[in-house]
Amino acid sequence: MEDRLLQTAQRREDEDIETSLRPHTLRDYVGQEKVRESLEVYISAALKRHDALDHILLYGPPGLGKTTLASIVASEMGQNIRITSGPAIERPGDLASILTNLNQGDVLFIDEIHRLSRAVEEVLYPAMEDYALDIMIGKGPTARSIRLDLPKFTLVGATTRAGRLSAPLRDRFGIIYRLEMYTPEELSRIVGRSAGILGMTYDEDGLMEIARRSRGTPRIANRMLKRVRDFAQVKADGRITYDVARQALNMLDVDDLGLDRVDRAVLSTMADKFGGGPVGLDTLAATTGEDAVTIEDVYEPYLMQLGFIMRTPRGRILTPAAFEHLGKTVPQNAQFLRAAEEADSEQTTLL
Ligand SMILES: Nc1ncnc2c1ncn2[C@@H]1O[C@H](COP(=O)(O)OP(=O)(O)O)[C@@H](O)[C@H]1O
Ligand SMILES: [Mg+2]
Repeated sequence: MEDRLLQTAQRREDEDIETSLRPHTLRDYVGQEKVRESLEVYISAALKRHDALDHILLYGPPGLGKTTLASIVASEMGQNIRITSGPAIERPGDLASILTNLNQGDVLFIDEIHRLSRAVEEVLYPAMEDYALDIMIGKGPTARSIRLDLPKFTLVGATTRAGRLSAPLRDRFGIIYRLEMYTPEELSRIVGRSAGILGMTYDEDGLMEIARRSRGTPRIANRMLKRVRDFAQVKADGRITYDVARQALNMLDVDDLGLDRVDRAVLSTMADKFGGGPVGLDTLAATTGEDAVTIEDVYEPYLMQLGFIMRTPRGRILTPAAFEHLGKTVPQNAQFLRAAEEADSEQTTLL
């Protein structure tokens, strides 16, 4: 119980810090060069025309900067942002009232947009395409629909799973960006900026050590920075050095590559219980006691980025690099070898 309370308090503190560390301009948004460059062009063109920006879809794993980018778009356009999420919009009427309350040029941010119901999505189509809202009046044979004009707005949708979005919805976004994981150098710039905002002193080596172990994810990097700061204040003189970062992160059970207990459980379960695979997501979830969606959205992207896990038509398999990291030999069973061979040819076609 007490533990839970502590965790809740910590989460709230993390969220507050997250808000204070969010960059507000495209200039301060680190990395994602291609996204930044093209957005800069679209934004200045829209500003010149005194027009709203095209609708934007952002997708990628959690913590890569989707929400941050949405609010940057609004502030760079000099407009207000209205924030909601797929699960929060339960009925078509909920969306209708959000839409009718928008002002000209507003940015409407819908997080987890893949979780909109079909009925709600259907309200969104004419709103995105024609800035119009179709309302049904009456019931049965006398029912008729009238069309209301909406102000010209920009929808920014975010999702961790682009594959779950219906085709008609995806097609209505003029701009689609996939956010990539960050390099250690980029993460170290992000952590350095955060440390500056939080008034901490540091060595570049200390920042880099945090960056290297942050799984390519700014949110994780900022969280680790905070844990390292606590450690530095209690066990050292407050400065974030290489040694302090290492000790603090080891204490958190994060290994040299940034893998935590769950990552390691996924890898060793695949190696020990399934001979390297192929194993289906649901089976893997049941065996490790983790949620399938969490494995797919949170753990797998980084393990795939490291080249430790591959998806094959038959399920997930481990790669030789993963066996090496685990200090195990690559299995020679026929099923595993066949899946590995197929994976080589399929890999490039997978999203
Ligand atoms: N490109 C970036 N540059 C600097 N900080 C970033 C960047 N992307 C994300 N962050 C930081 O990471 C945190 C999480 O980002 P967020 O936008 O909430 O991710 P998402 O919405 O994709 O889950 C933010 O608080 C922000 O401080
Ligand atoms: Mg977000």
